[in-house]
Amino acid sequence: MTSETRTAIVTGAYGGIGRAVTEVLLEEGFAVTMVGRDPDKLRAAADHLSPASGAELRWLAGSLADEEFLGEVAASHGESHGSLDLLVNNAGVAGTRAVGELTAEFVDEQFAVNTRAVILLTAKCLPLLRNAVGKRGSAQVVNTASNAGKRGEAMLSSYSASKAAVVGFTEALHDELAGEGIKATAICPGLTDTPMADDYREGGAVEMITPRDVAETVRLTTRLSRACVIPEIVLLRPTEWVAASELR
Ligand SMILES: NC(=O)c1ccc[n+]([C@@H]2O[C@H](COP(=O)([O-])OP(=O)(O)OC[C@H]3O[C@@H](n4cnc5c(N)ncnc54)[C@H](OP(=O)(O)O)[C@@H]3O)[C@@H](O)[C@H]2O)c1
Repeated sequence: MTSETRTAIVTGAYGGIGRAVTEVLLEEGFAVTMVGRDPDKLRAAADHLSPASGAELRWLAGSLADEEFLGEVAASHGESHGSLDLLVNNAGVAGTRAVGELTAEFVDEQFAVNTRAVILLTAKCLPLLRNAVGKRGSAQVVNTASNAGKRGEAMLSSYSASKAAVVGFTEALHDELAGEGIKATAICPGLTDTPMADDYREGGAVEMITPRDVAETVRLTTRLSRACVIPEIVLLRPTEWVAASELR
């Protein structure tokens, strides 16, 4: 790794979208710190991905719901690299439930991972992002929100609210930090072909966005000049946000 090498942290890195994002970033020459809960899955993903890329790939296991672990992620990446060009806050938990069935435990888990971890990990990584601005003029935060964060969905009320908060946080990041070279992007995919979408397969095959589609949008954001920010990317399937009666 040279001082020219850009570095990234990806959370939820062995999940469907996180793994595709990690692959794309390695292709782009980033040194990547993969973050997830399960050390065995992280090790297996890293063993598979690193030989092909030749780029440096590290991993850290722990729960993003644990604030201490969030501090460890920032500290460990900082000790290895000294700066952070791209933070991809991607980990998330879903789960469908009617409004009347919501419990504190269910809501707290979604907000702890989908929202609180995104906010706190960004805060803890800010000195490293600023170091990257010092080296290369800009740095980035990319947050995986959801189309449910743009338009709330029935049976996904808590999840929709947790992702709408991510959209709001990303807008605020842009407002507060873009002037100093830290760009913020919220990616809002529709139904994407990962384990998280398994509940939607029961009625048979469903055409879904691919994890690679989402990862390609992250690649796009890494290739732009400092002067160009994409604040939000919404990815929909052809039938999403279209009432069934309107379909031919
Ligand atoms: N799939 C979709 O249709 C869709 C659509 C829009 C947005 N999204 C968003 O895209 C992101 C990636 O999801 P995905 O579709 O790739 O699903 P996925 O394959 O289930 O990946 C989610 C990842 O987040 C990790 N995670 C969950 N809780 C965690 C915790 N407490 N600490 C650390 N890691 C944790 C999971 O680890 P474990 O496997 O150990 O739980 C998993 O690796 C999520 O933010 C999701 O909300 C997904």
